[in-house]
Amino acid sequence: SPPAIIAPSILSADFGALGQACSDTIAQGADWLHVDIMDGHFVPNMTFGAPVVTKIRPHVERPAQGLGRGTFDCHMMIAEPKKWVKDFKKAGCDLYCFHYEAAISSTAAESPEATSEKKTSPKEMIRYIHDQGMRAGIAIKPKTDVRVLDEILESEIKEEVPDMVLIMTVEPGFGGQKFMPDMMSKVQMLRQKYPELNIEVDGGLSEATIDTAADAGANVIVAGSAVFGAKDPREVIGKLRQAVEG
Ligand code: DX5
Ligand code: ZN
Repeated sequence: SPPAIIAPSILSADFGALGQACSDTIAQGADWLHVDIMDGHFVPNMTFGAPVVTKIRPHVERPAQGLGRGTFDCHMMIAEPKKWVKDFKKAGCDLYCFHYEAAISSTAAESPEATSEKKTSPKEMIRYIHDQGMRAGIAIKPKTDVRVLDEILESEIKEEVPDMVLIMTVEPGFGGQKFMPDMMSKVQMLRQKYPELNIEVDGGLSEATIDTAADAGANVIVAGSAVFGAKDPREVIGKLRQAVEG
Protein backbone atom coordinates (compact mmCIF):
# COMPACT_ATOMS: atom_id res chain seq x y z
CA SER A 1 0.00 0.00 0.00
CA PRO A 2 0.99 3.62 -0.35
CA PRO A 3 2.43 5.37 2.74
CA ALA A 4 0.45 6.00 5.93
CA ILE A 5 -1.09 9.45 6.07
CA ILE A 6 -2.66 10.79 9.27
CA ALA A 7 -5.21 13.53 8.65
CA PRO A 8 -6.78 15.02 11.78
CA SER A 9 -10.23 16.44 11.14
CA ILE A 10 -10.39 20.03 12.35
CA LEU A 11 -14.15 19.64 12.80
CA SER A 12 -13.29 18.70 16.40
CA ALA A 13 -10.78 21.55 16.87
CA ASP A 14 -11.48 24.78 18.75
CA PHE A 15 -13.11 26.96 16.07
CA GLY A 16 -12.32 30.01 18.18
CA ALA A 17 -8.61 29.39 17.73
CA LEU A 18 -8.55 27.49 14.48
CA GLY A 19 -5.28 28.78 13.02
CA GLN A 20 -3.35 27.77 16.12
CA ALA A 21 -5.11 24.39 16.26
CA CYS A 22 -4.09 23.72 12.65
CA SER A 23 -0.42 24.55 13.14
CA ASP A 24 -0.36 22.62 16.44
CA THR A 25 -1.67 19.39 14.93
CA ILE A 26 0.94 19.47 12.17
CA ALA A 27 3.65 20.14 14.78
CA GLN A 28 2.32 17.12 16.70
CA GLY A 29 3.07 14.85 13.74
CA ALA A 30 0.01 15.00 11.49
CA ASP A 31 0.58 14.77 7.73
CA TRP A 32 -2.54 16.46 6.36
CA LEU A 33 -5.37 18.57 7.66
CA HIS A 34 -8.79 17.13 6.95
CA VAL A 35 -11.10 20.09 6.41
CA ASP A 36 -14.82 19.24 6.61
CA ILE A 37 -17.00 21.53 4.53
CA MET A 38 -20.75 21.14 5.13
CA ASP A 39 -23.52 23.16 3.50
CA GLY A 40 -26.64 22.20 5.46
CA HIS A 41 -28.10 20.58 2.31
CA PHE A 42 -25.99 17.54 1.50
CA VAL A 43 -25.67 16.92 5.26
CA PRO A 44 -27.76 18.20 8.17
CA ASN A 45 -25.00 20.42 9.54
CA MET A 46 -22.97 23.47 8.48
CA THR A 47 -19.34 24.38 9.00
CA PHE A 48 -17.56 27.05 7.00
CA GLY A 49 -16.48 27.93 3.49
CA ALA A 50 -13.55 29.20 1.46
CA PRO A 51 -13.03 32.47 3.42
CA VAL A 52 -12.16 30.51 6.56
CA VAL A 53 -9.88 28.16 4.61
CA THR A 54 -8.09 31.25 3.23
CA LYS A 55 -7.47 32.47 6.77
CA ILE A 56 -6.15 29.19 8.17
CA ARG A 57 -3.96 28.40 5.14
CA PRO A 58 -1.01 30.62 6.26
CA HIS A 59 -0.89 28.77 9.59
CA VAL A 60 0.22 25.57 7.83
CA GLU A 61 3.13 25.39 5.41
CA ARG A 62 2.16 24.18 1.94
CA PRO A 63 3.51 20.77 0.89
CA ALA A 64 6.82 20.99 -0.97
CA GLN A 65 5.42 18.63 -3.60
CA GLY A 66 2.38 16.50 -4.32
CA LEU A 67 0.33 15.47 -1.33
CA GLY A 68 3.08 15.91 1.26
CA ARG A 69 2.97 17.27 4.79
CA GLY A 70 0.67 20.24 5.13
CA THR A 71 -1.82 19.11 2.49
CA PHE A 72 -5.29 20.62 2.92
CA ASP A 73 -7.63 17.70 2.33
CA CYS A 74 -11.01 19.36 1.82
CA HIS A 75 -13.93 16.98 2.30
CA MET A 76 -16.78 18.65 0.45
CA MET A 77 -20.07 17.54 1.99
CA ILE A 78 -21.98 19.88 -0.26
CA ALA A 79 -24.83 19.54 -2.75
CA GLU A 80 -23.09 21.49 -5.54
CA PRO A 81 -19.46 20.39 -5.56
CA LYS A 82 -18.63 21.88 -8.97
CA LYS A 83 -19.66 25.37 -7.92
CA TRP A 84 -16.90 25.78 -5.32
CA VAL A 85 -13.85 24.27 -7.02
CA LYS A 86 -12.31 27.60 -8.06
CA ASP A 87 -12.94 29.27 -4.71
CA PHE A 88 -11.28 26.43 -2.84
CA LYS A 89 -8.31 26.42 -5.18
CA LYS A 90 -7.85 30.12 -4.44
CA ALA A 91 -8.27 29.50 -0.71
CA GLY A 92 -5.36 27.03 -0.71
CA CYS A 93 -7.02 23.63 -0.95
CA ASP A 94 -4.65 20.93 -2.29
CA LEU A 95 -7.01 17.97 -2.51
CA TYR A 96 -10.67 18.57 -3.35
CA CYS A 97 -12.72 15.54 -2.34
CA PHE A 98 -16.33 15.60 -3.53
CA HIS A 99 -19.14 13.16 -2.91
CA TYR A 100 -20.15 10.77 -5.68
CA GLU A 101 -23.79 11.11 -4.58
CA ALA A 102 -23.74 14.89 -4.96
CA ALA A 103 -22.15 14.77 -8.42
CA ILE A 104 -24.70 12.24 -9.67
CA SER A 105 -27.72 14.11 -8.37
CA SER A 106 -26.64 17.54 -9.60
CA THR A 107 -26.28 16.13 -13.13
CA ALA A 108 -29.63 14.38 -12.85
CA ALA A 109 -31.19 17.69 -11.86
CA GLU A 110 -29.70 19.43 -14.90
CA SER A 111 -31.01 16.84 -17.36
CA PRO A 112 -33.52 14.36 -15.94
CA GLU A 113 -33.31 12.22 -19.09
CA ALA A 114 -29.56 11.80 -18.88
CA THR A 115 -28.37 8.22 -18.75
CA SER A 116 -24.85 7.69 -19.98
CA GLU A 117 -23.99 11.35 -19.39
CA LYS A 118 -25.19 10.93 -15.84
CA LYS A 119 -22.61 8.24 -15.24
CA THR A 120 -19.70 10.25 -16.59
CA SER A 121 -20.40 13.18 -14.30
CA PRO A 122 -17.96 12.20 -11.52
CA LYS A 123 -15.22 11.81 -14.14
CA GLU A 124 -15.97 15.28 -15.45
CA MET A 125 -15.68 16.60 -11.90
CA ILE A 126 -12.30 14.94 -11.48
CA ARG A 127 -11.04 16.36 -14.75
CA TYR A 128 -12.30 19.81 -13.78
CA ILE A 129 -10.56 19.66 -10.38
CA HIS A 130 -7.33 18.55 -12.09
CA ASP A 131 -7.66 21.36 -14.64
CA GLN A 132 -7.81 23.81 -11.73
CA GLY A 133 -4.50 22.48 -10.42
CA MET A 134 -5.68 20.42 -7.46
CA ARG A 135 -5.65 16.71 -6.68
CA ALA A 136 -9.07 15.08 -6.76
CA GLY A 137 -10.77 12.75 -4.32
CA ILE A 138 -14.11 10.99 -4.54
CA ALA A 139 -16.10 10.05 -1.44
CA ILE A 140 -18.93 7.58 -0.94
CA LYS A 141 -21.48 7.47 1.88
CA PRO A 142 -22.09 4.23 3.80
CA LYS A 143 -25.12 3.22 1.74
CA THR A 144 -23.39 3.69 -1.63
CA ASP A 145 -22.09 0.56 -3.37
CA VAL A 146 -18.31 0.66 -3.78
CA ARG A 147 -18.60 -0.89 -7.27
CA VAL A 148 -19.83 2.42 -8.69
CA LEU A 149 -16.20 3.54 -8.42
CA ASP A 150 -14.72 0.86 -10.69
CA GLU A 151 -15.74 2.55 -13.90
CA ILE A 152 -14.12 5.77 -12.66
CA LEU A 153 -10.93 4.19 -11.30
CA GLU A 154 -10.45 2.23 -14.51
CA SER A 155 -10.80 5.20 -16.82
CA GLU A 156 -8.26 5.21 -19.66
CA ILE A 157 -8.06 8.97 -19.41
CA LYS A 158 -5.49 9.88 -16.78
CA GLU A 159 -7.08 13.24 -15.96
CA GLU A 160 -10.30 11.46 -14.99
CA VAL A 161 -8.76 9.10 -12.45
CA PRO A 162 -9.02 10.24 -8.82
CA ASP A 163 -5.96 10.61 -6.59
CA MET A 164 -7.88 9.27 -3.60
CA VAL A 165 -11.06 7.45 -2.65
CA LEU A 166 -12.78 8.25 0.65
CA ILE A 167 -14.83 5.48 2.22
CA MET A 168 -17.11 7.03 4.84
CA THR A 169 -17.23 4.95 8.01
CA VAL A 170 -20.08 7.00 9.52
CA GLU A 171 -22.99 8.89 7.97
CA PRO A 172 -21.43 12.25 7.10
CA GLY A 173 -22.46 15.29 9.12
CA PHE A 174 -21.02 15.06 12.60
CA GLY A 175 -17.90 14.16 14.50
CA GLY A 176 -17.85 11.71 17.37
CA GLN A 177 -19.99 8.95 15.81
CA LYS A 178 -19.48 5.21 15.98
CA PHE A 179 -17.20 3.51 13.42
CA MET A 180 -19.06 1.19 11.00
CA PRO A 181 -16.91 -1.97 10.60
CA ASP A 182 -19.19 -3.18 7.77
CA MET A 183 -17.51 -0.60 5.55
CA MET A 184 -14.24 -2.54 5.64
CA SER A 185 -15.39 -4.89 2.88
CA LYS A 186 -15.38 -1.83 0.59
CA VAL A 187 -11.82 -0.99 1.62
CA GLN A 188 -10.67 -4.58 1.11
CA MET A 189 -12.26 -4.77 -2.31
CA LEU A 190 -10.56 -1.55 -3.42
CA ARG A 191 -7.18 -2.44 -1.95
CA GLN A 192 -7.21 -5.81 -3.71
CA LYS A 193 -7.89 -4.24 -7.09
CA TYR A 194 -5.88 -1.05 -6.70
CA PRO A 195 -2.67 -1.65 -4.71
CA GLU A 196 -1.39 1.90 -5.21
CA LEU A 197 -4.62 3.79 -4.53
CA ASN A 198 -4.88 6.23 -1.63
CA ILE A 199 -7.81 4.89 0.38
CA GLU A 200 -9.07 7.22 3.10
CA VAL A 201 -11.39 6.27 5.94
CA ASP A 202 -13.34 8.89 7.86
CA GLY A 203 -15.55 8.57 10.91
CA GLY A 204 -15.05 6.91 14.28
CA LEU A 205 -11.35 6.20 13.81
CA SER A 206 -9.43 5.86 17.09
CA GLU A 207 -6.95 3.58 18.81
CA ALA A 208 -9.87 1.15 19.25
CA THR A 209 -10.78 0.90 15.54
CA ILE A 210 -7.56 1.65 13.68
CA ASP A 211 -6.40 -1.96 13.42
CA THR A 212 -9.60 -2.97 11.66
CA ALA A 213 -9.15 -0.16 9.13
CA ALA A 214 -5.43 -0.78 8.66
CA ASP A 215 -5.92 -4.54 8.17
CA ALA A 216 -8.51 -3.86 5.49
CA GLY A 217 -5.98 -1.72 3.61
CA ALA A 218 -6.81 1.90 4.40
CA ASN A 219 -3.74 4.18 4.33
CA VAL A 220 -5.21 7.68 4.83
CA ILE A 221 -6.66 7.98 8.31
CA VAL A 222 -8.98 10.79 9.35
CA ALA A 223 -9.53 11.26 13.08
CA GLY A 224 -11.37 14.17 14.65
CA SER A 225 -12.49 13.58 18.22
CA ALA A 226 -9.78 10.97 18.83
CA VAL A 227 -7.03 13.53 18.10
CA PHE A 228 -8.51 16.83 19.26
CA GLY A 229 -10.16 15.27 22.31
CA ALA A 230 -6.94 13.60 23.46
CA LYS A 231 -4.79 14.69 26.38
CA ASP A 232 -1.76 13.88 24.26
CA PRO A 233 -2.61 14.29 20.56
CA ARG A 234 0.98 13.53 19.54
CA GLU A 235 0.73 10.10 21.11
CA VAL A 236 -2.58 9.34 19.37
CA ILE A 237 -1.22 10.45 15.98
CA GLY A 238 1.84 8.24 16.54
CA LYS A 239 -0.27 5.21 17.44
CA LEU A 240 -2.52 5.63 14.43
CA ARG A 241 0.52 5.84 12.19
CA GLN A 242 2.15 2.82 13.78
CA ALA A 243 -0.98 0.72 13.23
CA VAL A 244 -1.04 1.56 9.52
CA GLU A 245 2.69 1.08 9.01
CA GLY A 246 2.44 -2.27 10.80
C1 DX5 B 1 -18.03 13.56 9.50
C2 DX5 B 1 -16.74 14.14 9.03
C3 DX5 B 1 -15.57 13.63 9.74
C4 DX5 B 1 -15.56 13.88 11.23
C5 DX5 B 1 -14.91 12.69 11.87
O1 DX5 B 1 -19.03 13.92 8.62
O2 DX5 B 1 -16.55 13.88 7.66
O3 DX5 B 1 -14.37 14.10 9.14
O4 DX5 B 1 -14.87 15.02 11.63
O5 DX5 B 1 -14.96 12.83 13.24
P1 DX5 B 1 -14.60 11.64 14.22
O6 DX5 B 1 -13.20 11.25 13.95
O7 DX5 B 1 -14.80 12.24 15.57
O8 DX5 B 1 -15.57 10.53 13.92
ZN1 ZN C 1 -14.60 14.31 6.77
